Amino acid sequence: MRYKSQSVAYWYFAVAMALFGLQLVFGLLSAAKYLGPDPLLYILPFDVTKVIHTNLLIVWVLTGFMGATYWMVPDESRTELHSVKLAYIQLVLWVIMGVSAVIGYLFRYGTGNKLLEQPLPHKIVIVICMLIFIYNIGMTIKKSGRFTTTEGVLMLGVVSSALLFIPALLHYENYTVSIFYRWWTIHLWVEGVWMMIMAAFLAYLLIRLSGADREVMEKWLYVIVGLVFIAGILGTAHHYYWVGVPTYWLPIGGFFGALEPVALVGMAIYAYSAIKRSGLAHPNTLALHWTVGSAIFTLFGAGLLGLAHTWPSINKWTHGTLITAMHGHAAFYGAYAMIVLAMITYALPSFCKDRPEAGTSIGYWAFWLQLSGMLGMTFSFATAGIGQVYLERIMGMGYLDAQLKIQVHFLMLIATATIFSVGVGLFIYDFFRYRPSFNTAAEQNAQPPLTSNVHSK
Ligand code: HEM
Ligand code: HEM
Ligand SMILES: [Fe+2]
Repeated sequence: MRYKSQSVAYWYFAVAMALFGLQLVFGLLSAAKYLGPDPLLYILPFDVTKVIHTNLLIVWVLTGFMGATYWMVPDESRTELHSVKLAYIQLVLWVIMGVSAVIGYLFRYGTGNKLLEQPLPHKIVIVICMLIFIYNIGMTIKKSGRFTTTEGVLMLGVVSSALLFIPALLHYENYTVSIFYRWWTIHLWVEGVWMMIMAAFLAYLLIRLSGADREVMEKWLYVIVGLVFIAGILGTAHHYYWVGVPTYWLPIGGFFGALEPVALVGMAIYAYSAIKRSGLAHPNTLALHWTVGSAIFTLFGAGLLGLAHTWPSINKWTHGTLITAMHGHAAFYGAYAMIVLAMITYALPSFCKDRPEAGTSIGYWAFWLQLSGMLGMTFSFATAGIGQVYLERIMGMGYLDAQLKIQVHFLMLIATATIFSVGVGLFIYDFFRYRPSFNTAAEQNAQPPLTSNVHSK
């Protein structure tokens, strides 16, 4: 840690870890309900557990993005944060918003708009938090006078994410209009501006970990951002096939949706070639696993599994089935969970003086168990989804009859999700088992050298 104020990131990461754990509890509950009978049917039905599961996901990933930004910006701009106090106020407001939203869902207090279920007062707090965040980061950069391209891409992603939340604040009576604008937030977040946030973290990590030349990396970052824009904006149309809008959206969605994976192929090549060209300049090999892993898993989950159902002729059958859940899990995990875990793994040794820089063996177990568990979960959803589409959509079997026939895939889902959860549990344990000390690098160098802290665990 070069700057004292970077320590705020630790508390954002700690909150993200706790919410990540809780997200999985509600995921496992949602999965168990597919096996029935459901003793919690009248207390915690499936719709409630699923809403809590997906909302906790969004909240913890955004908490991770904020923490990672508070870590990265001082490093890039070579200065302390503008206001540590504001960063903590933002975190407290954010946590109150997230926790009270979850409690509200338990009592059916929500808007029912998928992934944007937060009631209006909560959405207003989200806007306030975003404004504090943008102000704090903006002032930090302004004060320093140093603004790198990597930071520029990150800021573009953060500011656009806030702007794209505006359609989610409005209420639309007409269902088609409501769905139409819902995708301006959801699709343009996950396949547009969050991609920029991810690409910026990826560039930052690759420059630090591989020692790759900043100028070359940032030149390619522009290309990736350009590709995301070209395909991602009109790619929104791959959600407009069956929602009651004119049919000209079909070819537009088919064409631009199919172009979207190009940026993800670019991103994976970018990560691979940085390592191949420049090697490893930093001892933190565990962070490198998460970084390169994220680029590759995104290509698989978002690129390949997104492409699989983006065509109108396929989506006609798969729309809103477990095929969507298959892709949603692999894409979200690869792109956003893994990049946050990469930033955490990179930053963590700087917060705790006894933590080995190269990562602990528990950290490696956490990585491989999560990866294999998530791969297994993706295949479970995929096999369940193929069965569902065939039985329900092609053979015309009733929804519940089809669900009974595919129950075995949910046993596989729970088994693989358990492996995944053990991996997450180990990550969380590894996170909290060293007490943070928050010394800057200069302060640490001033202390007598610790002989046992490298490669010992
Ligand atoms: C990291 C990037 C991505 C993430 C996190 C992501 C996540 C998701 C999620 C959560 C959904 C379900 C949304 C809902 O129903 O409310 C979804 C739907 C969809 N995604 Fe992605 N996605 C990503 C990239 C892509 C890409 C690159 C493509 C195309 C090549 C794609 C194609 C689709 C399609 C066609 C649907 C609609 C499925 C349906 O009709 O039910 N996605 N995505
Ligand atoms: C213990 C691990 C997990 C289990 C058992 C689990 C299970 C589930 C289940 C059963 C659903 C409902 C699917 C449906 O609508 O029928 C769901 C939805 C979802 N989960 Fe998970 N999940 C887990 C972890 C995760 C993780 C780590 C992520 C992301 C990083 C994630 C992202 C999502 C998303 C985006 C949806 C909504 C998908 C859609 O709209 O179709 N889940 N999960
Ligand atoms: Fe999309």
